[in-house]
Amino acid sequence: MYQLNKTAKTNFIKTMLEIAGLVKENFSKLTFALVLVLLNSLITIFSPYFIGLITDELILKGLRYELFVALILLFSIYLVYSLSSYFQIRVIGKVGVDTVHKLRNKIFEKLNELPISFFNSNKSGDLISRINNDTEVLNGLFSEVLVRFFLSFFNIAGIGIFLTFLNPKLGVLSVGLIIPLFVYTIATNRLFRNINKKSLDSLGSLSSEISEGLNNFKTFIIFNKREFFNERIKKSIDDNFRKSTLASFVNGVSSLIYDLAGNLATVLVITFGLQMVKNVEITLGTLIAFLLLVNRFYEPLKTLASLVGTIQRSLASWDRINEILRMETNLKVTQKENEKIYSNEKTMIKMIDVDFGYDHSLVLKDVNLEIEKGKTYALVGPTGSGKSTLASMIMRLHDPVSGKIILNGYDLKSFRPDEISDQIGFILQEPFLIEGTLEENLKYGNRKLNHLTKSELLKEIENRNLKEVLNKFRNGLDEYVGVNSYLSLGQKQLVTFMRAILRDPKLLIMDEATSNVDTKTEKLFQAILDSLPADTSKFIIAHKLNTIRKADEIYLIANGRVEKIENLQVVLEIIRKSDY
Ligand SMILES: Nc1ncnc2c1ncn2[C@@H]1O[C@H](COP(=O)(O)OP(=O)(O)O)[C@@H](O)[C@H]1O
Ligand SMILES: [Mg+2]
Repeated sequence: MYQLNKTAKTNFIKTMLEIAGLVKENFSKLTFALVLVLLNSLITIFSPYFIGLITDELILKGLRYELFVALILLFSIYLVYSLSSYFQIRVIGKVGVDTVHKLRNKIFEKLNELPISFFNSNKSGDLISRINNDTEVLNGLFSEVLVRFFLSFFNIAGIGIFLTFLNPKLGVLSVGLIIPLFVYTIATNRLFRNINKKSLDSLGSLSSEISEGLNNFKTFIIFNKREFFNERIKKSIDDNFRKSTLASFVNGVSSLIYDLAGNLATVLVITFGLQMVKNVEITLGTLIAFLLLVNRFYEPLKTLASLVGTIQRSLASWDRINEILRMETNLKVTQKENEKIYSNEKTMIKMIDVDFGYDHSLVLKDVNLEIEKGKTYALVGPTGSGKSTLASMIMRLHDPVSGKIILNGYDLKSFRPDEISDQIGFILQEPFLIEGTLEENLKYGNRKLNHLTKSELLKEIENRNLKEVLNKFRNGLDEYVGVNSYLSLGQKQLVTFMRAILRDPKLLIMDEATSNVDTKTEKLFQAILDSLPADTSKFIIAHKLNTIRKADEIYLIANGRVEKIENLQVVLEIIRKSDY
């Protein structure tokens, strides 16, 4: 249900309405810009006519002073045109940037709201591309494309009407080619767009091929597969070369045809126009106006044809963004019950008949489990049996399909995410570190430590006996632990361990948290765990015996069912019999 579509479908009118809603607050700015566009269009249409008038009435009649005034007027008109263009770009650019800013914030708010399973079922690359590229495409739409589109449209319509009005015969002659051009555009549009899309796609797959290759470079070398890597990249490059060559060819041809039509129309106007001037059907000024306008008529046609594709791409981008915005979280926080569902002061977590599955098949079946304050629990079971799943249910990363999970007497669903994470420290099986230093990672999402200075944080670390763990980092709190650091998996586990302990959790869940540290460090962990306040509950998923030995209760999970195991001997038996 949280799977994003690869290819979003476009419903033009609905999309347009949604986009209009997005720029609602900037409506006056947009209207202003549109008025300026209209003004420019009028200047484009009427200035050649004005030049024609100047020719007929002033130059040919030799009125020097009036000519001088008229030229100054003409210059002023062009100045107005430039100023208007400038303000269009300013105003509309602001609208574009505003809108993208708003959109990105909206997406982030949404991502914060969405459950973990959303991130499980979507590649982060795709999300990043939606947040970055698709919003940028929309920025282009607002800041540039729409203005050019309307300007071109106004110019074509205005010039077409004006020329036909000025002289029907010459008018039809000069704009008539638009009909075959229009037919040509419609006929080739789909084909050419496909060719261009294939060229863009092949560029996309080339870059993903390269990035995949670089990510797996070690694997390629270990398996002596360099040849394989080279061949794949080469194939991608060749493919991209062929497709982009074809694309640039058809684009060139199209451009040529539009130019040809413009030039042909100019020739027609000159040939017939001169004849008409000779026959005194039109004045020389009118002919000049015609010549100037014919050129301005065919140019925007070319722009328009290319913009149609851009606009369609923008709409697709909007759909891709909107798909995220429309998603609803299924982990809504519910109203807290008036009375406790379950009242036993000693119990912190209680799972009642919990069923859960990621898809139709159940991973957990009918799980009943009680976690009491201050007790230590061990959960064992084969790989893939649902240990991590069970642990993440306690953090409410997923909701049960049926059954209930209760925290301190109330339904887990009635707690806000921060209320849950205040009480439960979770050390994930796969250490998750944020970009930055050890200090930043320890403070991350911790409201109590957030504002501490370095020395205050150090004191907190010492108070919790974590100093020795910290000493394992050469640069102490300043150690860089981000994505590009060279920390081993074990060292990353040290960070997440410290981070969890520093939260002073009432319940500490450790999902194979010591699987990659040495025995000495593990003993250190154990000592720290033993020094936690007596009412801290511990839920430990582990393979190692010494961890299990310390537990008050041991549970085995297999085939989706969880059962309590009476003594260590039985566990040893099970472990010995199974493969792990
Ligand atoms: N995000 C997920 N989407 C779909 N299936 C999943 C997901 N995470 C785990 N599973 C499946 O659920 C089962 C239990 O996984 P997990 O809880 O990680 O097992 P364990 O921690 O015991 O090794 C496995 O079959 C695994 O493939
Ligand atoms: Mg696991």
